[in-house]
Amino acid sequence: MEIIIHGTGTMGKILKETAEQSKNFTVTGFADELTNEKGDIIIDFSHFSRISSLLEFAEVKNLPVILATTGYSEEIFERIKKASQKIPILLSSNMSLGINLMQEILSRIVPVLYENYDIEIVETHHSKKIDSPSGTAKTLAEVIERNCREILKRQYGREGNNPREKKEIGIHSLRGGTVVGEHSVFFYGNDEIFEIKHTALSKKIFAEGALKATEFLVKQKAGLYSMKDIF
Ligand SMILES: NC(=O)c1ccc[n+]([C@@H]2O[C@H](COP(=O)([O-])OP(=O)(O)OC[C@H]3O[C@@H](n4cnc5c(N)ncnc54)[C@H](OP(=O)(O)O)[C@@H]3O)[C@@H](O)[C@H]2O)c1
Repeated sequence: MEIIIHGTGTMGKILKETAEQSKNFTVTGFADELTNEKGDIIIDFSHFSRISSLLEFAEVKNLPVILATTGYSEEIFERIKKASQKIPILLSSNMSLGINLMQEILSRIVPVLYENYDIEIVETHHSKKIDSPSGTAKTLAEVIERNCREILKRQYGREGNNPREKKEIGIHSLRGGTVVGEHSVFFYGNDEIFEIKHTALSKKIFAEGALKATEFLVKQKAGLYSMKDIF
């Protein structure tokens, strides 16, 4: 399969190296701005400011897109949904198998636990990460919200003299060093703590997940897909 990589940063380079080590893929494009690249699919690990021009290119060339970039606004999300009426798009804030399984586990246990446990999400990333909280932490919060019968308020960080409210999800971001990515969901109960944790030890897991997703997406018709669809 011929892949065009959009985004030449850390993840773009790892993806290129991983794809070139496999006989199933040929990298036919590697750029921060696509102009006339040809291939079967685009994989994007770039910057949210680049998404609109990327989608224009993909629509004109009628190419499927794996969108792995995080940090985009509601407005860009609407643009992505519109483009997905014309081309297949797979959107995932975390391409790793483990994080996607974590979402599956949450969707099963949150309905059982949320009434009696306080839920807090803690994510840690390297000091150079731009967006906080991480796209994955936001996705985990969405999964939790979808699986509660009542609305929980999102509390980003804590400061001041207010105690925790019962109906909230705490979301906390730690930044430092070279941490690839850690996500924990804590369920604090009376006299017990239950934690689900995923640690990414290398960014290669995201590249491998993205390549796995290409095999699925090239066979699909126009629409908006997630990693859940491929497992
Ligand atoms: N879905 C997943 O599983 C997953 C996993 C890891 C990372 N990500 C996301 O993928 C994206 C790329 O990650 P990365 O670690 O490769 O980041 P990075 O090293 O900073 O690379 C970002 C790339 O986008 C380009 N870019 C274009 N416009 C930019 C702007 N206005 N500001 C900053 N960069 C701009 C950069 O070009 P220059 O170098 O010329 O600035 C660079 O090539 C991020 O959104 C990250 O959160 C997703």
